[in-house]
Amino acid sequence: MDLILKTDYWNDPKSREAFKRFIKRIHNLDFTTWETAGFWDNQYTPFSYFKGDELISNICIYLLDAVIHDRKTRIAQISGVGTDPLFRRQGLNRKLTRMALEWAEDKSDNGFFLFADEEAIPYYKACGFTPIIEHVEWIEAPKTNKEEGLFKLSPDHPQDFKKIITYVDAGIPASDTFSILNKNLLMFNVLYSMKEQLYEIPDLECLVWFKRRNGCLYIHDIIGRKIPTFRELYPYMTDARDIRVEFHFHTDKLGIKNIKSKPKENSGGFVKGPFPFQKPVFPANSYA
Ligand SMILES: CC(C)(COP(=O)(O)OP(=O)(O)OC[C@H]1O[C@@H](n2cnc3c(N)ncnc32)[C@H](O)[C@@H]1OP(=O)(O)O)[C@@H](O)C(=O)NCCC(=O)NCCS
Repeated sequence: MDLILKTDYWNDPKSREAFKRFIKRIHNLDFTTWETAGFWDNQYTPFSYFKGDELISNICIYLLDAVIHDRKTRIAQISGVGTDPLFRRQGLNRKLTRMALEWAEDKSDNGFFLFADEEAIPYYKACGFTPIIEHVEWIEAPKTNKEEGLFKLSPDHPQDFKKIITYVDAGIPASDTFSILNKNLLMFNVLYSMKEQLYEIPDLECLVWFKRRNGCLYIHDIIGRKIPTFRELYPYMTDARDIRVEFHFHTDKLGIKNIKSKPKENSGGFVKGPFPFQKPVFPANSYA
């Protein structure tokens, strides 16, 4: 087959556009918003086979600065994985994965992680990745008086966007057990997954990413110069419908006593190499 292997090509507009088309085709994800906002990241490295001008098989390695067990370090995420349907089961992605892992091996101190879609699980197993069961921490929702002062922000509104950037620039890790420090990735999540679920609490000088479903308050992230305790935070968020509160990041800074832990549903987490947790929860803002 007449294939060209390419990597490290973000400065080549034609190849970069082919990459964007591919991600739209395979994952229905449009990177234009992230790119236009100026957060495209050279730490995100593609390994791709091209046929003519089109990309037909791909894997990306995202090298991420992180805090793990109180120490600044590095970890790598695998994402953007796919092969065009016509070219599947010909060993292309396995070859790219091998190359990418070899390239990144000495660049990550904590191995690799990824989030697998259901249909790709056999593929990742075939490539030697190990499923890991994430564990989320949770508590029963406490009863507390409501404090006014929670405001929804939208990255689509220029004033809100400016405010978000200020918080992101000054923010410290929400956890010293496991946090990802990459601001471009955080902004990716601000622009996509957090978009409708981001709130400011000016009294506490922080942003909170959360949603509610079926009596559960899911807190995904806190962004601020100081991380408030849960006791300080919850009065601003309390709702009579809350039965449980679930945290999608490690809660070491929140000062919660007697917190419980349970396996996370639909996690899809896989790891390879010296991954330093038995029961992690991948920070919600780490998804690329
Ligand atoms: C998963 C995917 C990337 C695999 O790409 P590929 O180029 O076809 O993979 P390879 O040919 O290198 O497969 C390597 C091995 O993985 C396993 N494998 C791959 N696809 C598989 C499948 N659909 N079912 C079972 N095993 C599979 C096989 O063991 C295969 O070796 P074999 O063909 O000799 O048996 C591709 O099917 C795809 O793009 N799927 C849709 C998008 C997707 O799910 N991306 C991942 C999101 S997390």
